[in-house]
Amino acid sequence: MFVCVCAGVTDQQIIDAAKTECSADSLAAKLGVGENCGSCLDYFYELAMGEGLPLVAVETKEVVFERVLLTA
Ligand code: FES
Repeated sequence: MFVCVCAGVTDQQIIDAAKTECSADSLAAKLGVGENCGSCLDYFYELAMGEGLPLVAVETKEVVFERVLLTA
């Protein structure tokens, strides 16, 4: 079933792609979901978060440490 008609993205594509993404936001950007009319976003986030993805990427201690090093 199509979730995002504008981008032609199905629920199965979202479920498959969710296995390799770290957040719902990065998954939406990767698939182009929600970039036109946006009417799909509620269902998209429900589906992506149901697959265990957080809304936004959770920063790890390593990422924070790297940012500290880069700005020092
Ligand atoms: S249906 Fe997804 S952006 Fe329009």
